[in-house]
Amino acid sequence: MPYNSKILIVDDEQPILDSLGDLLVQRGYSVGTAKSAEEALESLNESDSFDLALVDYLLPGINGIDFIKQIKQEHPDLSIIMITGKGTISLAVEAMKSGVADFLEKPVNPEELHLIIKRELKYKHAIDQNAYFMAELARRSSIENIVGQTDSMLAIFEQVRQVAQTDASVLITGESGTGKELFAHHIHYCSRRKNGRLVQFSCVDLAPGIVESELFGHKKGSYTGAISTEKGRFEFADGGTLFLDEIGDIPLEFQPKLLNVLQSKQFTPIGGNRSFSSDFRLITATNKDLEQKIARDQFRSDLYYRLNVVEIKVPPLRDHKGDIPPLLNHFIKVYREKTNNPIRGITKAAQDMLMHYNWPGNIRQLKNAIEWAFVFCHEDLIDIGHLPSYVSDDNSKLSLTPTQGCTNLALIEKDLILKCLQKTNWNKTHAADLLGINRNTLRSKIQRYGIPDQVL
Ligand SMILES: Nc1ncnc2c1ncn2[C@@H]1O[C@H](COP(=O)(O)OP(=O)(O)O)[C@@H](O)[C@H]1O
Ligand SMILES: [Mg+2]
Repeated sequence: MPYNSKILIVDDEQPILDSLGDLLVQRGYSVGTAKSAEEALESLNESDSFDLALVDYLLPGINGIDFIKQIKQEHPDLSIIMITGKGTISLAVEAMKSGVADFLEKPVNPEELHLIIKRELKYKHAIDQNAYFMAELARRSSIENIVGQTDSMLAIFEQVRQVAQTDASVLITGESGTGKELFAHHIHYCSRRKNGRLVQFSCVDLAPGIVESELFGHKKGSYTGAISTEKGRFEFADGGTLFLDEIGDIPLEFQPKLLNVLQSKQFTPIGGNRSFSSDFRLITATNKDLEQKIARDQFRSDLYYRLNVVEIKVPPLRDHKGDIPPLLNHFIKVYREKTNNPIRGITKAAQDMLMHYNWPGNIRQLKNAIEWAFVFCHEDLIDIGHLPSYVSDDNSKLSLTPTQGCTNLALIEKDLILKCLQKTNWNKTHAADLLGINRNTLRSKIQRYGIPDQVL
């Protein structure tokens, strides 16, 4: 890893730049040089790819420590080694405090310098690796966690498997909570880009300027508030996948700019004067009807056709209820591991109730319902009384046969309200939130059921 690493040498004396530069190039590093603080900042802002900087403490016109602080503020991940002619202990301490990794005295001993650089880059590499392994761990768990056995889900798994082998742009559509994000991740991790980054960006509720800055990146000072140079998502996604979630919400004004990048694979950061190319695979997702948006002039059709090379339509849960039992088993396992609550399963009655509900919030809502049950169930099996009230309310309309032990809906409701009040220490606002009803409704139910109005 230390080889091919890029090092910036900052010193006002040309002979030193030359000798250190030669030394490092001989050892296999790429080297950039700067003769002043301004030149150094310019180089760092121009290219974000330096791994390490060797900085002379005595630069004309600026205090060495102030300069280090300034670099660190704008490039927090850059390792800095300071070179000084008069290394005193107090200077070293101050330098370390401002973020310098190490420092060396002039004349620099080449072996010592190489050792320090190697150690520093190894450390940096370990941090990057750690981030990579964490992502890998998340990837494995996300792949194992996709559950489905109905024909409609199996058909989607097959589409996802096939599209993952290609570089085609994918548009994933479906209601909220159906698993669009999960499939987007899955496509990336099953594709040839799996070792590249998966860069995710949600376009919901953002002003056009923010979207542009987040995607394109910007140079320091390119607009008020741009206090440092930041890479954008297009650049981060180079070699990997860019997942634009909620693409239906992307501002209309921004759409031509996005289309342009998708066509040319080139982009210029805001305030920059050079364009970069980025090789990313695009996945987008939305719960909006884009064709309807096009008809209303809220979405550009040319962009739509670019995004929608392959469309994966994820069905709502109510259309594949056969997946509810395996999903329940799955979520019970997930929360058993997460919460230490040793629930083993779910009663037939409770499962029937969940099968009858129509799940407007789809799989996400089902998952939340199980999380809820893990709060209130202290038995072996989740039963009707442990489920959120909306599940039974819905069933009341469906004239479900009363099940043993829980014949009266009012009783279940009263029980649940009591549990929520206990859980929230009689905080009615919180309890109402938990129940998904407003505070006044909760008040009237408390009165109706004769539940004590305060902590027992
Ligand atoms: N087929 C599935 N198997 C297991 N968990 C799923 C499945 N589909 C969705 N989920 C879970 O449901 C929740 C919502 O899924 P998500 O992908 O965020 O939906 P969307 O992006 O469509 O709103 C997530 O916690 C996800 O892990
Ligand atoms: Mg989503």
